[in-house]
Amino acid sequence: MEHGVRKVGVVGSGQMGGGIAQVAAVAGFEVAVFDSASGALEKCKATHDKLLARAVEKGRMEQADADAAKARLTYAESMDALAGADIVIEAVVENADVKKAVFADLDKRFTGGEILATNTSSISITEIAAATTTPERVIGMHFFYPVPVMKLVEVINGLATDSAVTARVLALSEAMGKKAVPANDRAGFVSNRVLMPMINEAFYAWMEGVAEPEHIDEIMKLGMNHPMGPLRLADFIGLDTCAHIMNVLADGLHNERYRPCPLLDQLVVAGRLGNKTGRGVFDYSS
Ligand code: CAA
Repeated sequence: MEHGVRKVGVVGSGQMGGGIAQVAAVAGFEVAVFDSASGALEKCKATHDKLLARAVEKGRMEQADADAAKARLTYAESMDALAGADIVIEAVVENADVKKAVFADLDKRFTGGEILATNTSSISITEIAAATTTPERVIGMHFFYPVPVMKLVEVINGLATDSAVTARVLALSEAMGKKAVPANDRAGFVSNRVLMPMINEAFYAWMEGVAEPEHIDEIMKLGMNHPMGPLRLADFIGLDTCAHIMNVLADGLHNERYRPCPLLDQLVVAGRLGNKTGRGVFDYSS
């Protein structure tokens, strides 16, 4: 099926929203990215400029193509700039109430059957869709960090998602240069249902003294051919995010075995959240 998309709207210009906007613009779509947080759009644009310049430097892109991608990007402090988008991809903070408020607003603004997608990594698509009057056009488009590098989009159907919407989003993800894989709306979908318990188990292995954190990571990296060990990956994702997703799994699957490892919780309360705070499992201060 054709995706039928010319313009992409992105709500939220953080690491995920910015990455999504960049890959969409590079793929030839007109893109408007909206953020209300002060300074966020400047930071997003600076990241785009830096990454596109690097792609040119590395010979992965012609200067003219980088310039054309930049010209297709609009950075807007008003949602009005999203008008005319055929799909809006939401990538705001991972909080159900905030996302539901965004979707209720999008539902009112976009009344022509436009697709409303969320980049949530763990919140129920069905729950977000229930904040709209048109749940059949709401879908999950789960990108992975760093978005320009990671090949996957996990496309998640809510309970009411129309199969034609799914087909269009699968086609759109491929047109954005990604490999799109469908999944259904259960807690953690597939990616975090499988990834997070592995990460959590690595914290248990550390807590129980099975091995030092460096050795746990080395065993998993070299033995399983993973690009990063699970503890470094936890730092990369954010320990607070990992703990939050484990709680989503425990609540959503009604199973206490998914609760975060006590050591993971302890690092979170200590403020050791990973790369973003300079220290998590490992120290990044230098
Ligand atoms: N943005 C854009 N590009 C980036 C980047 C970023 N934040 N970080 C790295 N890259 C690029 C680099 O520029 C580099 O490209 P060049 O060829 O131009 O140099 C390329 O990626 C490789 O980077 P490095 O050589 O610096 O390092 P590396 O080979 O170790 O790769 C990595 C870095 C791609 C992050 C790799 O370690 C990796 O794949 N790690 C696992 C990442 C992962 O699992 N992500 C998913 C997290 S889970 C998630 O996102 C969803 C969720 O729901 C929690």
